[in-house]
Amino acid sequence: MEQQSPLQTTMKAITIPSPSTYVPSDPTTITSTSIPVPKSSPSQALVKIHAAAISPQELTWPTTSYPQPRIPAHDISGTIISSPSSSSFKLGDKVFALLDFKSQGGMAEYAIADENLICKVPDGVSMEEAASLPRASLTAWQGLQWVEKGMRVLITGASGAVGRMGVQIARIRVGEMGKVIALGGKGVESLKDMGADVVVNYRDVENWDDLVEEGGMVDGVFDCVGGQTLERVENLVKKGGWVVTVASPPPSWAKRGDEGWGVVEENRVKKYFFIVEESGEMLKEIGELVKAGKLKSSVAFSVEGLTGENVREAWSKGLRGGLAGSAVIKVL
Ligand SMILES: NC(=O)c1ccc[n+]([C@@H]2O[C@H](COP(=O)([O-])OP(=O)(O)OC[C@H]3O[C@@H](n4cnc5c(N)ncnc54)[C@H](OP(=O)(O)O)[C@@H]3O)[C@@H](O)[C@H]2O)c1
Repeated sequence: MEQQSPLQTTMKAITIPSPSTYVPSDPTTITSTSIPVPKSSPSQALVKIHAAAISPQELTWPTTSYPQPRIPAHDISGTIISSPSSSSFKLGDKVFALLDFKSQGGMAEYAIADENLICKVPDGVSMEEAASLPRASLTAWQGLQWVEKGMRVLITGASGAVGRMGVQIARIRVGEMGKVIALGGKGVESLKDMGADVVVNYRDVENWDDLVEEGGMVDGVFDCVGGQTLERVENLVKKGGWVVTVASPPPSWAKRGDEGWGVVEENRVKKYFFIVEESGEMLKEIGELVKAGKLKSSVAFSVEGLTGENVREAWSKGLRGGLAGSAVIKVL
């Protein structure tokens, strides 16, 4: 194992309370603490964290199967401190990752990452931008697998962290002949520059059919809102088309079997809810697109310093919404 020992045995970390069901916790209960630097196994890397991005909804994730006390923020960028001897990652490499959700997150000075989850930060991308990418881009990447050239695709929650990635990835996949309709909130107009053909603020929608007035029903929806919005946009999808949602809590039709979440055929469409999978391989493909300027990261704002006060404030802002992308904490 190639390694440089961290100079310290304890580290600063943020911990969050977890509810027992999908009920929001209060960001004022976020705590700053000091805990031992984690120890990596032979197949893992130890990463010194530069930046971590907030998932605003994380305060609603139920306690089950998460370590306690829980360190949040699985979107990270940082520097390799130690890695397996056979690893392609070397001491000092700048990397980014979506950490395993079942493990501790990265709102700390150090975190452990399975080697197959990490990826080198593309040239020209800052550490804050890199930290903003994994969760949002992997979710959109996986949620738009069904999209082919020439399709008409509707993205809901398009102005948020995941939706912004969704619009750009859908644009790449449908090509010039396809169409991307973005239904979002504040700042949705800016998505025209990110590849949307049509942008609509949900606060202005009076008649849902108007969304598909030009060109007819869509081949599928990638939904980042859920609830009534999901129910309404389902009616805008062609027979045999796709309704994919990632919004939490999962819709009542979502089915989880032994092999994970499955596709449900209902009301003439295919429906799919899933939880994003962490993957260094996919991040590599995404990183290539970022490097080529085809995919832009979205840092809504960044806050400097891993203090309880900073994180509480940033989290509250994230929960209020209206952000154009991810809220990032600069740890280093
Ligand atoms: N299943 C998974 O693996 C997975 C992974 C990532 C995210 N998610 C979920 O995906 C959802 C989106 O995440 P995010 O991080 O992108 O959230 P976010 O950054 O808070 O974005 C949500 C966006 O949706 C907009 N919005 C709210 N109501 C809307 C409506 N009725 N129609 C259209 N747009 C609407 C908001 O605009 P305003 O701010 O103007 O209201 C905001 O821009 C969350 O529920 C999150 O938990 C799930």
